Amino acid sequence: MLHTSVLIITAFTSLASAHTAAWAKGMFCRNGANPSANHDEPNTNLAVNPLFNLAKEDWWFQHDRGCDLAPPPPGEFLTLPANGNFTVELAHNRAFTTLSYGGKKVSNWPDGEEHPDEWNSWEGPGSECKLGSGALHTYNESNAAGTAWAISYQSDIKKVTMENLVVFSVLKHTPWKRLATYGVPNLPKCPEGGCTCAWLWVPENCGQSNMYMQPFKCNVTNVSSTVPVAKAQPPKFCADDKSKCVKGAKQMIAYYQATGNNMFDIPRPATPGYNEKCGWTDGPQCDIFEQSGATAS
Ligand SMILES: *[C@@H]1O[C@H](CO)[C@@H](O)[C@H](O)[C@H]1NC(C)=O
Ligand SMILES: *[C@@H]1O[C@H](CO)[C@@H](O)[C@H](O)[C@H]1NC(C)=O
Ligand SMILES: *[C@@H]1O[C@H](CO)[C@@H](O)[C@H](O)[C@H]1NC(C)=O
Ligand SMILES: *[C@@H]1O[C@H](CO)[C@@H](O)[C@H](O)[C@H]1NC(C)=O
Repeated sequence: MLHTSVLIITAFTSLASAHTAAWAKGMFCRNGANPSANHDEPNTNLAVNPLFNLAKEDWWFQHDRGCDLAPPPPGEFLTLPANGNFTVELAHNRAFTTLSYGGKKVSNWPDGEEHPDEWNSWEGPGSECKLGSGALHTYNESNAAGTAWAISYQSDIKKVTMENLVVFSVLKHTPWKRLATYGVPNLPKCPEGGCTCAWLWVPENCGQSNMYMQPFKCNVTNVSSTVPVAKAQPPKFCADDKSKCVKGAKQMIAYYQATGNNMFDIPRPATPGYNEKCGWTDGPQCDIFEQSGATAS
């Protein structure tokens, strides 16, 4: 009893500096960095902490905090229905999702609180970024930069590379409310052990600069296509010139890190993001597949 309340206090007092992650079946670090089957950590926020100025081996799938070594239980996957949708919970702590406490602490928002739909901290230039104590990294819904998912057709997380991890879905103006529904393009089936996915976010100039890359085990269902996804190319910042946008299969954005960045020459104070500024349209990415007749490079 005492042990439980101490844990809750610890998690809730750390919320002021919390950020946002995606919570769903198939996630790594659902119980913090402890992968043991009988360990339950209903108020963990380990997965929400952002990535900043790290070496690639440390930011890659949140290795800095051990999340890449804390997979979901065997056989548990995030299900991606080809040509359908899937919904995850975006929240600052597992406590504020239906994965914890029988959903008793959830609200429509990532912080378990109530807020007006037109929640806004924008009062003109120099405004404080204070929504959700800054953890949403936005002034209001239209300022939310967009989040994304990428998929690799590798079951073994150690075999995932920048080139085989392809962004397949973007949801504009997120993270915002707790529930987020993403569209899935016509993905082919995963290998026997399933695929590896990542939830991705780069906030836009609100609060500290950072990025998010969170590991999941995922699997594609409702499959009707056999056309593989193409090799991913680094995205390019193209807000100033649409002709510079990279078309087709794109890599995640790697930015603000000590090593492993894949985007350069971004005019300050602009930031890259999973939106039109870097060549992504909202919704499922339907142009990520190998062209028939084309040879894989
Ligand atoms: C399955 O795919 C078909 C198209 O191939 C689509 O019309 C349907 O909505 C999908 N079903 C689900 C449950 O996502
Ligand atoms: C997926 O979501 C879109 C947009 O909300 C909707 O139009 C579509 O019907 C949904 N598809 C399925 C299979 O539920
Ligand atoms: C939302 O925030 C942006 C700042 O990026 C601001 O330009 C815009 O006016 C705000 N919207 C509202 C409705 O206040
Ligand atoms: C992934 O989904 C497909 C289609 O439902 C299924 O046949 C396959 O067994 C699943 N893979 C794993 C590893 O569960």
